[in-house]
Amino acid sequence: MKAIIDVKLAARTADLDTYKTDVLAVGLFSDAKGLDKSIRWLDRQLEHAIGKLIKLGDFKGKEGTGSVVYGDGRIGAKRILLVGLGEKKATTLDTIRKAAAYTAKKSVEMKAKTVGLALHSAFGAKFDSAQMGQACAEGTCFGSYRYDEFITENGNGRLSSLKVELIDSYSTRTKELKKGVLKGAVVGQAQNYARTIANRPANVVYPATLGAEARKLARGSSTIKCTVFSEKQMIEKGMGGVLAVGSGSEHRPTFIILKHTPPGKGADPKVALVGKAITFDSGGISLKSANNMEEMKFDKTGGISVLATMKAIAELQLPIGVYGIIPSAENVPSGTSYRPGDIITTYSGKTVEIQNTDAEGRMILCDGLNYAVKQKCETVIDIATLTGSCLVALGRYMAGLMGNDDRLIKQLQKASEESGEKVWHLPSGEEYAKEMKSRIADLKNTGSRYGGACTAAAFLGQFVGDAKWAHLDIAGVDMFQKASEFSAEGSTGFGVRLLTTYLTNLAAAKD
Ligand code: BES
Ligand code: MN
Ligand code: ZN
Repeated sequence: MKAIIDVKLAARTADLDTYKTDVLAVGLFSDAKGLDKSIRWLDRQLEHAIGKLIKLGDFKGKEGTGSVVYGDGRIGAKRILLVGLGEKKATTLDTIRKAAAYTAKKSVEMKAKTVGLALHSAFGAKFDSAQMGQACAEGTCFGSYRYDEFITENGNGRLSSLKVELIDSYSTRTKELKKGVLKGAVVGQAQNYARTIANRPANVVYPATLGAEARKLARGSSTIKCTVFSEKQMIEKGMGGVLAVGSGSEHRPTFIILKHTPPGKGADPKVALVGKAITFDSGGISLKSANNMEEMKFDKTGGISVLATMKAIAELQLPIGVYGIIPSAENVPSGTSYRPGDIITTYSGKTVEIQNTDAEGRMILCDGLNYAVKQKCETVIDIATLTGSCLVALGRYMAGLMGNDDRLIKQLQKASEESGEKVWHLPSGEEYAKEMKSRIADLKNTGSRYGGACTAAAFLGQFVGDAKWAHLDIAGVDMFQKASEFSAEGSTGFGVRLLTTYLTNLAAAKD
């Protein structure tokens, strides 16, 4: 099987005109009055090829657009890629991240081996250099990614690696950029790791193989320990939710626990991430329609985001303990499946009347959340492709964010702004919780026709005890149905940047 593109990232002090590379990327705002000083110098060497191109209106600096100018032996670079940054006043860190993603995607298409990034120069001092370096590295990883491990033909294949350097002429700035690049490379590569596992189909990734992947991750890390409960162990513990959902499949369910404990800190983690890993969601006995059902291989995305976030925080050596909890099952119909009408006793002891076997995510998450509570975690964040309703409410641009603690919601909103993974706060309070009451059990697993993302969250909220809890419904943002200027189609790896940023901020506040 082909490995994904190996991106090597670094920062280096060099002058733009003499720097040798296949592609040199520079950013331009759509409302810029003229060329930046550094680009003006390049332009002069190129007999004003850049200026002419802009004057003719062939490049307007809009976000998601670019233009190639050939170096022609007059400068070190073979090509200059002008990258649109949009309006200057609308810039965020994500503008840089996207520009880097655009550059990386185009560079891979052009089969470039080496890329120089001078995208940050256009922003001056608007952001600190380390932050810009991180955004560039994350964007580069994101944009260069494609999922082709099962394509056997090699005729017109892409290159196996891409070497990318952030370029600045001042060594003091390079030093700052480099700090960010090191972090961004870890986060970006963790996100691509998540995308690959999420993109793998359900005949390859199922609860047992996901467990094996988690074990492999732990073997490669000195701070992560991994435990995988088998079905037998789950029966002993009474994890009725996961067991019910997994009961119809030949692929038996697993319950994966990752624990990151930084050196010298013996205490058990106080923070837990809980991710839904349904390796395929057919709906079970309440079968889904055939349309786009193949997309339900992505129903494991939440769990995989947790897995990859654990990888990232271990590599970043975050000084706080964190649990990664991943209940995993395949939801398919058979003679042994759970049924509508069944009453399930969950790990918490609470009973749930099943009204629809397709509302399975909450049935595995309630056991995951309760496991975190039993480990005495004070903060619990779950992430799940939970409801079609969330997709209807927010579209494919942002995840639903719900929870029971204002401060935690704010911290996640801040992490969202920094990471560029967007969230929108939705309600999940009492009114919604009331809809989830059953007449014959403690709870039922569906609400009314309306507000499905909120009622699902309200269901989960009843399994977190006194913990501060937040819930991310990523049903709309787990995958791209089509490729864009910034990304290949398929898994987005949503959540890895957001959660890593949240945990990084949390660790910084504590230490
Ligand atoms: N995995 C789905 C949610 C989903 C839908 C994710 C579309 C991505 C795209 C989830 O398990 C599900 O089927 N939810 C049901 C719940 C309903 C039966 C209460 C839904 O949203 O329709
Ligand atoms: Mn479902
Ligand atoms: Zn599902």
